[in-house]
Amino acid sequence: MLDIARKEFARYVYQLRPSLDPVLVDMEALAKEKRFPIVGPLVGQLIEVLTYLQQPRRVFEMGSGYGYSAYWFARAMPADGEVICTGSARSAERARQFFTRGRLAHKLRYEVGDALEVIDRIPGDFDAILIDIDKHQYPEAWRKASKRVRVGGLIITDNLLRFGFEKDHTPLNDDPDPGVQGLKEFARLAYADPNFSTTIVTVRDGVGLSVRIA
Ligand SMILES: C[S@@+](CC[C@H](N)C(=O)[O-])C[C@H]1O[C@@H](n2cnc3c(N)ncnc32)[C@H](O)[C@@H]1O
Repeated sequence: MLDIARKEFARYVYQLRPSLDPVLVDMEALAKEKRFPIVGPLVGQLIEVLTYLQQPRRVFEMGSGYGYSAYWFARAMPADGEVICTGSARSAERARQFFTRGRLAHKLRYEVGDALEVIDRIPGDFDAILIDIDKHQYPEAWRKASKRVRVGGLIITDNLLRFGFEKDHTPLNDDPDPGVQGLKEFARLAYADPNFSTTIVTVRDGVGLSVRIA
């Protein structure tokens, strides 16, 4: 039931999309060719709507790959906004090429390295943080991100229902896999944190939205 609804929703939204930014089209094609797990256009458009609403000037991404989700942020951020990406040197180079083509290079800052380490060496708060790293690292990502997003800021977390709904249709299943456990622990931490108001929207395989309220 849920799967059918999701597929129909995705199809419906795809056919509504106006003519697309050719850079995004190429990034999506590259993901298909390389089987690289980008957030995809449904989550991309959610990022865009949230970015227009929140107008963040400083975004930190944990897990940027070649910059697909970052590109959605950058398109919608104010002209002086900056999205700080994390990942490999090869991904950084690709991201720079895509952002340059899209005339958004001035908004891109790519820090090569492990996001959980990079965040510790960049001072200051962030208006928004995207979490999209390996799933077993999610609890640590929450612990770090929740301290670094400003009050009123937003943490967007991809894939929160990935295992629960895609594997056996049971939310929060008992699979001992570290990725499953990481997502479960993340959800527990986020919902229990009194400084945040958290929800999970069922776009694609679940996107966490956590607003810092105190
Ligand atoms: C799921 S992909 C998505 C990338 C990007 N958010 C997008 O939508 O295109 C996550 C990427 O982050 C990388 N990654 C995983 N753990 C990481 C970490 N701790 N720090 C930086 N990158 C990481 C993965 O190798 C992969 O390239």
